[in-house]
Amino acid sequence: MPGPDLEEIKSRVDIVELIARYVALKPSGQRFKGRCPFHPDDTPSLVVSSDKGLWHCFGCHAGGDAIGFLMKIERLSFPEALARLARELGIEVRVGEGKGKLLQANEQAVQYFTSELRRPSGKRARDYLLERGIAEELWANYNLGYAPPGWDGLLRALGRLGMDTLRSLGLVVPGEKGYYDRFRDRVMFTICDDQGRPIAFAGRSFAGDPKYVNIPNTPLFTKGTVLYGLDLARDAIRQSGRAVLVEGYTDVISFQTAGIGETVGSMGTALTEAQARLIARHTDRVVIAYDRDAAGEASTLRGLVILRGAGLKVEVAVLPPDEDPDSLVRGHGAAAAKGVLDGALPFHRFFIESLARRHDVTTVEGQEQALEEAKAFWPELKSVPLQHELARELAGLLSLREEEVWRYLHGESQRTLPKEGRDRIGPEELFLHFLIEGKLPDRALEGLDATDFRPEYRPIVAKWVELWHGGKGPTTDELATELPPDQLPTMTRLALLDPHSPDEDQAIQDVVTKFLGLKLRRTLAEIEKQAREAEARGEVEEARRLFAQHHALKKQDPLLKRR
Ligand code: UTP
Ligand code: MN
Repeated sequence: MPGPDLEEIKSRVDIVELIARYVALKPSGQRFKGRCPFHPDDTPSLVVSSDKGLWHCFGCHAGGDAIGFLMKIERLSFPEALARLARELGIEVRVGEGKGKLLQANEQAVQYFTSELRRPSGKRARDYLLERGIAEELWANYNLGYAPPGWDGLLRALGRLGMDTLRSLGLVVPGEKGYYDRFRDRVMFTICDDQGRPIAFAGRSFAGDPKYVNIPNTPLFTKGTVLYGLDLARDAIRQSGRAVLVEGYTDVISFQTAGIGETVGSMGTALTEAQARLIARHTDRVVIAYDRDAAGEASTLRGLVILRGAGLKVEVAVLPPDEDPDSLVRGHGAAAAKGVLDGALPFHRFFIESLARRHDVTTVEGQEQALEEAKAFWPELKSVPLQHELARELAGLLSLREEEVWRYLHGESQRTLPKEGRDRIGPEELFLHFLIEGKLPDRALEGLDATDFRPEYRPIVAKWVELWHGGKGPTTDELATELPPDQLPTMTRLALLDPHSPDEDQAIQDVVTKFLGLKLRRTLAEIEKQAREAEARGEVEEARRLFAQHHALKKQDPLLKRR
């Protein structure tokens, strides 16, 4: 018998009853409210929604689902909380025995995927790997494989392991006519724990969305607690005295193969505290090598704060624009990749350069934004000399006196995001609220892109879009299950915020119009910036083209039109 079934537990647990064991809850509209047990709270700030299966504290910004609440309040690990709920609900579990059996079953799945890669029908996958420069010698080392097209290849090959096992490993998913394979026509990556035991899989499409299909949380695998490639990197990390952190599976394979054996992958953009602690168990120094696109930069900054929080020394390797570690190695060779790592910036330098790139510090508004952002970052700088250095460089950037900057930053600074940021309920937050509730009209969903949103919301939008492409608009519960734990508080805040609208349809219409307008104005600002840069470089034609584009787009602003 495998470990307890997450979906069954989540669907059967009564979150209000569970939380009410610790906190007095009072009904308030469709939800319940109480005093948050995780911080001194007179307000009451804790909101619990029984239909969404979520809780959020609008005071200390913690939030999650029933399992998360139990983990936090009883200080349990994910499997422990799961096992306790399962026991209470009378769902049978024999955890100890289950785990070994599940690992063995996953070994069989590795066998299946890797042998499918070698079969004649695996040619496309083999060609794909070779074309990407992943040579045949590497396939076994990384347990690369292939999941054939069709709905039941794995089901038929591994059916003897039992449906319970396959389901609880996330290898099959329930459909209307029974279970079917989760991975179809995909190149398979095997995710191992730090002992090299296979605990999960990811499947890459040859083309099309979603690029990667991942396994949900299972008794063997909790998202955000694992680093891809760590089992292979351990010795190199010890020898080199550092870990190199990249985002993707292929980035890990390329860097390790290029002789940067100490590389590990965060598997997506949102590094978690658990992953930072995992790194800190092996070394005290990290070089982040994330893409430089907008999402990459935002996640680098978030990653910085998290890694510093785990007590690590952090440097940032600045990749050439439009390259990720994998493409860097492929396009420019191992020496170039090592060079980029050697030139890594201490994190405060990177932070200043990033501010300068993202804000127009020649304007007062841009300066204010840069200062605000620095202030939010300030408490993460635990050393006084570092703080001085940041203040000095920021003063230089903004043409202000160092003292002024220091005083501003040193004032009543916030721990992470500025308060207004966290509590803000603007068009963007309302838009996301209705998105998560599945209430947005199609016109708002077309062309929805994570980069249209503030960095802290992007992982949530990206996950929502991924699940949406996978078939249906996900329920809040499904979204919560699929997100890494550190994204949950932001997600629950959005899901549980109160839009204060008597007429919901009208509110949705308004929010969509406002948000699309906001998005348009952000695009306009970006084009204008590029145009001015082109102008400054003397590229007259390019500047003219951009200004014309700006002019044409501007006409589409719904708010302007209305005036
Ligand atoms: P990237 O989009 O940067 O992909 O996502 P990649 O790793 O460079 O992949 P290739 O080179 O195009 O094949 C970085 C990581 O984010 C996670 C994966 O772990 C991926 O390696 N990811 C990305 C997903 O889980 N799902 C997705 O749809 C996309
Ligand atoms: Mn890539």
